[in-house]
Amino acid sequence: MSVIALGADHAGWQLKEDLKAWLVTQGHQVLDFGTHGSDSVDYPDYALPVAESVAAAKADRGVLVCGTGLGMSMTANKVPRVRAAACGDPLAARLSREHNDANVLALGARLVARDTAIEILQTWLETAFAGGRHARRIGKITELEQRTAGPNGGRR
Ligand code: RB5
Repeated sequence: MSVIALGADHAGWQLKEDLKAWLVTQGHQVLDFGTHGSDSVDYPDYALPVAESVAAAKADRGVLVCGTGLGMSMTANKVPRVRAAACGDPLAARLSREHNDANVLALGARLVARDTAIEILQTWLETAFAGGRHARRIGKITELEQRTAGPNGGRR
């Protein structure tokens, strides 16, 4: 069982609700940062708390849903220690875990059907980081974050 932080904008909230229900059936604990309806909102306002909860280890992983998954992933990747991957199929989801140790998954509700989204999420949750040469590359991302972070290392 893991703690999964969830966030969506108006384009993604319905899929986020479906994913939340599925995660609960799988025994996961869910932290839902909204949004909770179809009123138009701005995706960065939802990506940020999810990314911060993962960076602060309050959640094990994060899942973000917008129309394409792109705005959510762009925003989440501004937070140090977050590696967000926008995935449109299970192979991308598997490789984002094996090679990139992605800790946030971004999905596009306008691009993937509900059942495919669940398949992507399941694959993503079940796949372990492969380590080895990939760990060296993640280390370089972390180094870059540290070089570009403010004096407190990106911590608030
Ligand atoms: C909202 O219309 C849309 O721009 C948003 O959900 C997302 O796709 C942005 O990346």
